[in-house]
Amino acid sequence: MNVRLAKVDDLMGMQACNLQNLPENYMMKFWMYHAMTWPQISFVAEDHKGRIVGYVLAKIDEPAEDDKTQEIHGHVNSISVLRSYRRLGLAKKLMLLSQEAMASIYKASYVSLHVRKSNKAAIALYRDTLGFEVAKVEKKYYGDGEDALSMRLALK
Ligand code: ACO
Repeated sequence: MNVRLAKVDDLMGMQACNLQNLPENYMMKFWMYHAMTWPQISFVAEDHKGRIVGYVLAKIDEPAEDDKTQEIHGHVNSISVLRSYRRLGLAKKLMLLSQEAMASIYKASYVSLHVRKSNKAAIALYRDTLGFEVAKVEKKYYGDGEDALSMRLALK
């Protein structure tokens, strides 16, 4: 398995992977916007035939110039790995590469994300493996009414 920076050519494969794995899906222009605007922080995992089996899609939030209360930070919009490729360390690798790039290229001070309160696998990945903490619970964040954990990790 190879983990590398995502390219525009990968977007269809990333979208297909997202459709298989998550109920939160996005139009192609959303994937394209991220790849074109922040090209160094989204990554893919591919199999030996070059098929996309996992991805992380991320963005950078920059505060307005007159807003001193906010810091530049990364945000993970979506991450998933196809079922038969799970528990191989791919999501961990995808997250670490994105976090490193957010910190080194954009000087992001932290990374944030939202995750369903019931998503045990993803919460274990973020909290136990990567060291994220719950910043707050956002009630009824998802379309079906489920709460989200808003999680954060400080970047060095
Ligand atoms: N149960 C408990 N802990 C888990 C599980 C699980 N099913 N899966 C991963 N973990 C934790 C473990 O601590 C694991 O380390 P270990 O294998 O040494 O015990 C650690 O996370 C790293 O696991 P990876 O192998 O890197 O994770 P994987 O590649 O399997 O991907 C993911 C994890 C992305 C959550 C996968 O299960 C998936 O695609 N799920 C469906 C989509 C999803 O829920 N995405 C996250 C939504 S939130 C968002 O996108 C911001």
